[in-house]
Order: sequence, then C-alpha cells, then structure tokens
Amino acid sequence: MGDPMRGIRQENSSGDVHIREVAKRFGTTAAVNKVSIDVQNGEFLTFLGPSGCGKTTLLRMVAGFLTPDAGEIYFGQALMNSVPPWKRNVGFVFQNYALWPHMTAGENIAYGLKIRKLSRREIREKVREVLELVGLPDIETRYPSQLSGGQQQRIALARVLVLNPGVLLMDEPLSNLDVKLRGQMRAELSRLHIRLKTTTIYVTHDQMEAMTMSDRIVVMRDGLVQQIGAPLEIYDKPDNVFVGGFIGTPPMNFVDAVLAKEGDAFFVQGKGFKLRVPEGKFKDLGPYLGKEVIFGIRPEDIIDQDFYSGEPGGNVITAMVDVTEPLGSEVLLHGRFGEASIVARVNPGTRARGGEEHLLLFNMQKMHLFHKETEKAIEVQEGFTVTDLGKVKQAEKRGFQG
Ligand SMILES: Nc1ncnc2c1ncn2[C@@H]1O[C@H](COP(=O)(O)OP(=O)(O)OP(=O)(O)O)[C@@H](O)[C@H]1O
Ligand SMILES: [Mg+2]
Repeated sequence: MGDPMRGIRQENSSGDVHIREVAKRFGTTAAVNKVSIDVQNGEFLTFLGPSGCGKTTLLRMVAGFLTPDAGEIYFGQALMNSVPPWKRNVGFVFQNYALWPHMTAGENIAYGLKIRKLSRREIREKVREVLELVGLPDIETRYPSQLSGGQQQRIALARVLVLNPGVLLMDEPLSNLDVKLRGQMRAELSRLHIRLKTTTIYVTHDQMEAMTMSDRIVVMRDGLVQQIGAPLEIYDKPDNVFVGGFIGTPPMNFVDAVLAKEGDAFFVQGKGFKLRVPEGKFKDLGPYLGKEVIFGIRPEDIIDQDFYSGEPGGNVITAMVDVTEPLGSEVLLHGRFGEASIVARVNPGTRARGGEEHLLLFNMQKMHLFHKETEKAIEVQEGFTVTDLGKVKQAEKRGFQG
C-alpha cells in the first residue's frame, strides 16, 4: 500500500494568508470591522465566537465569495481582493456537505478532477488515495444516501482535499454531527492536518473544537477581534471579560470587588469576602487601589477545602451551596457568598450538599483581574507561574481521608 499522502501533500510554501484591516457591512450591520490577521503557512487557525460575530463573513471573503468593502487579503505576496474563488486555490468545506446525490462517493470526489481534465488513470489513483486518507477506502461506489452523516462529511472533505488546495477553509463542518461523532471527527481532522500541513482556517462557535484542534484561535465578537493566541494562552490569559467567559465550560466566574491594601498586601474585597492577591502576580496594582474591579476565577481554581493539604491560608470562603451536579469525574458546585454566585468544579468525593454551607479555597495564583469600566485584563507580571495546585492534586489522590 502506497503512502496515501503522496500527491496530496501540500508542497506550496506560500500558504500564508494575510488579512489587513478588512471590513464588510450589510446595510447598517458592521459584520466584520477592520480585522487584521496573519495566518502562517501550515497553520490551523480557528475563528471562534458567538452566532453573528462575523466568522462566516470573514471566511467567505478569504474564499472570494464576498468582496471586502475595505482592506486587503493576500495569499503569500499576492493581493486576492479581485481574484475569483476558483482562481484562489482554496478548498471550502461547508456545514451541510452538499454532495451530489446522484453520484457515488467516488464520482463526487472525481468531479473536480474531471473538470481539471486529469486522465482517467490519474483520477482513479487520486480518488483511492484520498479515500484512504479520510479513512473510508471501501465506500467508493456508495451513494450519499447510503452513507452516515460522518461518512458524508468525510467525503465532502475528501472532495476538497483531492484538489490539493493551498488553503483549506471550513465553516462549522462538524455541527451537523452528533456529539460523539463530532469528538471523533475532531481528532481525525487534527490527524489529517498533522499529515498534510495544509494552511487551514476553521470556523466554529464551539470552544471545545477550537481548543482541541487549533494552533491559534481568533476570538471574535461583533465583527471585532477580541484576542488571537494559542489555545492555552487564551485560556490562561484572557485579554478581557468576554474572552474569559467565552472559553471554558463552565465559564470563568466573575465577581465585583474593590481592591484594598493592608500593609504590603493587596486584597480583592467584596460583600462578604476578602481574598488575598498573591505577591508579585500583577505588574502594578497601585493605580487600582480603592477602585472597583472585576475578579475572575475559573471553576477548577475553586477547591473543596476538604481536599486541600497545603498550608492553611486566608483564601477560604464559606459558601452557601445551592446545588451540586455530580458528573462522575467531578462535581459542579453552584454556590453563593455575599452577593456573588459562583460555580466550582470539585472532587467527586465532596461532602458539599445543596442547602448547606461549605468551605471553598480559592487558588489565587490563578486569579484574574479586569478593569470595571473597560473589562480589559489588568496585566499579569511576566513569567508568573507559581502555583500551589500540586498540593491539591496530591490531596485528591490520597482521597478524602487524607
Ligand atoms: N447576506 C447578508 N445580508 C445581510 N446581513 C448579513 C448577511 N450575511 C450576514 N449578515 C449579518 O452579518 C453578521 C455576521 O454574520 P455571519 O454569518 O458572518 O456570522 P457568524 O459568526 O458566521 O454566525 P453563525 O455562528 O451564526 O454562523 C450578522 O449580524 C448577520 O446577520
Ligand atoms: Mg457562520
């Protein structure tokens, strides 16, 4: 069996895409508002954001189905604005696979090659190679109606890959699949990308897809870029409240607070709580003293005190537990303190019960602070990585008796 990548692999070195101050309006809606993004050759980049934020509009401009009102799109050095889609060497995979129902899987894949006037022998070879590549070597003669949703989507992908596009564009390609299949296809798309290294721009509103597959994520909102970065970078250092809240399930907790100081120590203080800010975590908190801020903390950074074996610290809060949601590997604890509502992701052995009080420890090494007005992140000291989560993990391993 030959290498199924042969002939399909992307050899083109100018698969980089540059989006410069691109804008598009529909009537009074600024669907895309002066967006600039540099996509590197071979990169898997994802546009992520809620419905209506402009992801599809931006992707369609890259494909050439829509013309920008302003700004430029380059492939390598070449300006693309007035180049029609079929001359851009892009492959586009849609949410609904749009296979020809009267053609077999093989014929669907061969269609584009026929138009390019390849010989019959070449076509047969390429169709076989690409079917192998997408893991469906035996279904060449079946019609779309005889294929599952996942198989249809793989054929749709094969049909695009066989043309060896310089840039692969995908708009919510997995959203019609059930949850389990979506998970499998995620892994499969990642594997394919590792093998082919085709520059890929992927659109989704599913943060799990974005987190697991992307080299970098572009978080969008209302036609504007909110943040561009590697998945963990965006997760660990969201630039603003929106990004912090959009990435992660359950989302980051946000609590209104005021920044206070006692001696050399800073505290976030609110109604019914006072939590100490780790020394040196933020660049300069001086200007925020006495000011209102938004305190952010992820559910996994709130820990059931019963499972903590480290030094007792001041960062423990008595929360009123509303409900607990056991998920098997963890428990989501919905609780309140003061006027704040929070969700914590705690050990499945927790003794916390709805309607009772429970002690929760805040891992303040992982805290976030945002400006009250702009909702922008207050800058963290470079290289701040200190964490005491190790102790918690040990305590969890030892189990509850520990
Ligand atoms: N052809 C059109 N005519 C008018 N308005 C449009 C058109 N296409 C998109 N819009 C508007 O532009 C905005 C961005 O739409 P777009 O389809 O790019 O969003 P999206 O991020 O892809 O959303 P979704 O996740 O729902 O697919 C929306 O407000 C949408 O209503
Ligand atoms: Mg869309």
